[in-house]
Amino acid sequence: MYSRIVGTGGYLPENVMTNADLEKIVETSDDWITERTGIKQRHIAVEGETTCDIAEKAARQAIEAADLKPQDIDLIIVATTTPDRIFPSTACLLQARLDIHGCAAFDVQAVCTGFVYALSIAEKFIRTGSATRALVVGAETTSRILDWTDRSTCVLFGDGAGAVVLAPSEEAGILSTHLHADGQYSDLLTVPEGVSQGFDKMKAGEAYIQMQGNEVFKMAVNTLGRIVDETLTANNLEKSDIDWLIPHQANIRIIKATARKLNMSMDQVVVTVDHHGNTSAASIPLALDVAVRDGRIKRGETLLLEAFGGGFTWGSALLKY
Ligand code: ACO
Repeated sequence: MYSRIVGTGGYLPENVMTNADLEKIVETSDDWITERTGIKQRHIAVEGETTCDIAEKAARQAIEAADLKPQDIDLIIVATTTPDRIFPSTACLLQARLDIHGCAAFDVQAVCTGFVYALSIAEKFIRTGSATRALVVGAETTSRILDWTDRSTCVLFGDGAGAVVLAPSEEAGILSTHLHADGQYSDLLTVPEGVSQGFDKMKAGEAYIQMQGNEVFKMAVNTLGRIVDETLTANNLEKSDIDWLIPHQANIRIIKATARKLNMSMDQVVVTVDHHGNTSAASIPLALDVAVRDGRIKRGETLLLEAFGGGFTWGSALLKY
């Protein structure tokens, strides 16, 4: 028994912020952002628009694409680093919005690798018979944890949500998932405030992403190269067996390095970073949804999903769509 993706969905807040808009806020330029990151624009939630609001839109789309009703869902996992509340979890809030009652619902926090973690957990629930229709969402309002005076981080991120529905299948679906973390690098990419450390800055809205960009960049390229090898070896596959690479969308240069490692043409790589920026846990399901809806990804094709993010966390999923 496999678990298979039977529906995808995505949602981006309507409000678009271009590089030209950022030029008015911080000392930066469209040329710098484009050359270093590949980003041209990102979507930013308006005031009052929350992670649960955008998660709901992506979730409803994925459920509809799966030809199901919300009440068919019996497991909800939301990957997010920007939950609406400390508790209840965003998954519980989403469950109520969808008028689903009683099934397990919880959040997973692995920053940019969150969706791969959530997918891996849901896959195991389905394969072991503990759930039959799992809703897996990656949703972020990362703009809320950005210091809009720090040009080294505020130009990189955006808001959005992506979702998939997983169901059991006798045909091949998710073939393997690979999850890793190494907390010793926690200070290279962090929001160094939190509940247990005291509320002062959280209250003032001053809990912001801090990143040693250059260090993170080097680690990301090396680590993603290794996880590609690990995933191929575990499945006894060659690089040429992969039809599509769906990478976490942090930086076009990191994405190109992984594609080179796989000897893949960029035509086989789904790129959304130019339009979405880095939407953290939402970036992979959003990219997947874009390429499914525009007809690039077809049933039966082999997809490699991979991510690297704060923690550090990193992971991959190999699947037949
Ligand atoms: N506009 C103009 N100049 C800038 C900007 C900006 N927005 N930001 C930084 N600079 C300047 C710096 O001040 C520096 O100037 P200096 O040389 O005078 O000191 C110069 O540009 C170069 O800065 P670097 O940080 O060395 O630039 P780099 O080439 O490393 O690019 C970047 C920075 C884009 C952040 C890159 O390092 C990166 O993408 N890192 C990885 C990000 C990532 O993958 N994160 C993981 C996932 S995110 C998550 O998990 C939440």
